[in-house]
Amino acid sequence: MSKILVAYFSASGVTAKAAKNLAEAAGAELFEIRPAQPYTQADLDWHDENSRSSVEMRDASARPEIAEKVADMGKYDVIFLGFPIWWYVAPHIINTFLESYELSGKKIVLFATSGGSGFGKTIEELKQSCPGAAVTEGKLLNGSPGREELKAFAAKYSK
Ligand SMILES: Cc1cc2nc3c(=O)[nH]c(=O)nc-3n(C[C@H](O)[C@H](O)[C@H](O)COP(=O)(O)O)c2cc1C
Repeated sequence: MSKILVAYFSASGVTAKAAKNLAEAAGAELFEIRPAQPYTQADLDWHDENSRSSVEMRDASARPEIAEKVADMGKYDVIFLGFPIWWYVAPHIINTFLESYELSGKKIVLFATSGGSGFGKTIEELKQSCPGAAVTEGKLLNGSPGREELKAFAAKYSK
C-alpha cells in the first residue's frame, strides 16, 4: 500500500480544515507547512501592493522560509499538497517546500481552496520546483466537501 502524506499551507484556516478532513478520509499523515515568519492580517492584504504577500507574489524567485521540515520524506510515495490560491497560483512558500526535498519518483497531487479561482498556471510553476516528480492537478476543495467526496478524491490518486 502507498504511504501517503497530506502537507498543507494555510494562512487563515480554510485550507487547514480541508487538509485535516482529507488526511482523515485518506488515513494519511498530516504536516503543516508553517512559515518561519507567520503572515499577519496586514501581510495578507492583496489591496495593498506593498503588503508582504503582494511583494512575494510579484517576485517569481521569492522563497519564504519554512519553520520545520518533514522528518522523513523518503517514506512517502504520494503527497497531497494543499494551499490557498494567491494571485491565481500557489503561494511561493509552496515552491520553498518542494525545493527542500528530493522528490523525484514521487507522486504529488495538488489541492487548493480559493475565493473562486481555479489552478490556472499553478501546476507549471510548481513542476519547476520538483524535477522528476509526477505532479497532478487534483481538486479545488472549496465549500467544505464531505467525507465521501474526500475519500473518493484520496482513493483516485493514492495508488
Ligand atoms: C494574498 C491573497 C491572494 C489571493 N488571491 C486569490 C485569487 O487570485 N483568487 C481567488 O479565488 N482567491 C484568492 N485569495 C483568497 C484565498 O484563496 C481563499 O480565501 C482561501 O480559501 C484562503 O485559504 P486559507 O484560509 O487556507 O489561507 C487570495 C487570498 C490572499 C490572502
